[in-house]
Amino acid sequence: MTANEKPAVAPGRLRQMEIYVTGVGGARPSVPVAPDALEANARQAMSPQAAAYIIGGGGCEVTMRANRAAFERHALVPRVLRDVATRDISVTLFGRRHRAPILLAPVGVLEMVHPEADLAVARAAAAEGIGYAFSNQASVPLEKTAAAMAAAPRWFQLYWSSDDDFVRSIVARAEKAGCEAIVVTLDTTLLGWRPRDLDMAYLPFLRGLGIGQYLSDPVFLSKIPASPPDTGIRPRGLGVIGAALSLRRKGKEFGLTISQMRAAVAHFTATYSRPDLNWTDIARLRDMTSLPILLKGLRHADDARLAREHGVDGIVVSNHGGRQVDGEIATLDALPDIAAAAEGLPVLLDSGVRSGSDVAKALALGASAVLVGRPYVYGLAIAGETGVREVIRNIIGEFDITLALLGLTRASELGEQNLSGQRLA
Ligand code: GLV
Repeated sequence: MTANEKPAVAPGRLRQMEIYVTGVGGARPSVPVAPDALEANARQAMSPQAAAYIIGGGGCEVTMRANRAAFERHALVPRVLRDVATRDISVTLFGRRHRAPILLAPVGVLEMVHPEADLAVARAAAAEGIGYAFSNQASVPLEKTAAAMAAAPRWFQLYWSSDDDFVRSIVARAEKAGCEAIVVTLDTTLLGWRPRDLDMAYLPFLRGLGIGQYLSDPVFLSKIPASPPDTGIRPRGLGVIGAALSLRRKGKEFGLTISQMRAAVAHFTATYSRPDLNWTDIARLRDMTSLPILLKGLRHADDARLAREHGVDGIVVSNHGGRQVDGEIATLDALPDIAAAAEGLPVLLDSGVRSGSDVAKALALGASAVLVGRPYVYGLAIAGETGVREVIRNIIGEFDITLALLGLTRASELGEQNLSGQRLA
């Protein structure tokens, strides 16, 4: 450091000071810091349909509660007198240094909560210097989102469509846009049973929302049939007018007529999911890309062993934020066995991460990093790009402070030794 350079203030202290010092003048953070208040305010800021889709989960939402309960059950055990004045919270994944063990998870249909959608998130991630996994169900084509990320790390989340030509095309586009990994989501080969959405009879994709990657893909567009197969099920009620307007608006954005949009939505519905996916497909993905491949949605240690045998590069322990199987294992509970079976492959975790303390617990149980989903979407809903930035700063800030107060100076030092054998009730 030269004489004129000030030592960088650690992110936890910095975030506290920017809130407390500006607070002297009466200013408050743009989005609540407390996770429950963040969700409550976001719910107010969203339409009922968006709130159901984003906040809701599968079935009776037992899995969502289990995810949180698992974090709350584990207890960290701080140590003292260990000189924690200087800390390094960075981690290295696939040869790339990440500023913190936190990436933004892929979340679809962000236009439901904010008009700038994925673009606002990409700008926020880049400004905070953290990675973002683009959603297959994004509102904004990945090329535009990538352009907003400058040099910050970006990954691409793949839903394996039943049309392999489209898969090949979108993977090639992701590579070309500088994505550094392909994250194949395996827990959603079928859409989960989601009572909140079913009760609203609302699926955004049918209105042309959340299919930006498809509407911008030349292979997908070239395959839209002139007259899509008739399912025999017709929309009923006055809502058809609103749905048509939504299709027309989206069509304008992508240079498509309303009848092309209708056909595109029908083609998407017929091809987006691939329930016959099996382990042999992983080799085909390997042929399609030289990027690291992560399998997302693993909850069983045997699947982690199979992942290793099939030559994948990383694993994401995920239950899709509790949106798929109701009453399944919490990701934090699945993590230790999976991390052991992965034998050194990077293992990431998502589903239920709400705070910096949660990040510390996940790393202590074997995660290399975590993906954060709903919290940043709540920030987006309340305050756009600023809101996403604040959520990132809050989680990183709390993680940094938690690390220090545990008596550690590096994220990589976290391990089982930092957790109590006793579980909190
Ligand atoms: C799609 O990813 C969904 O969870 O709705």
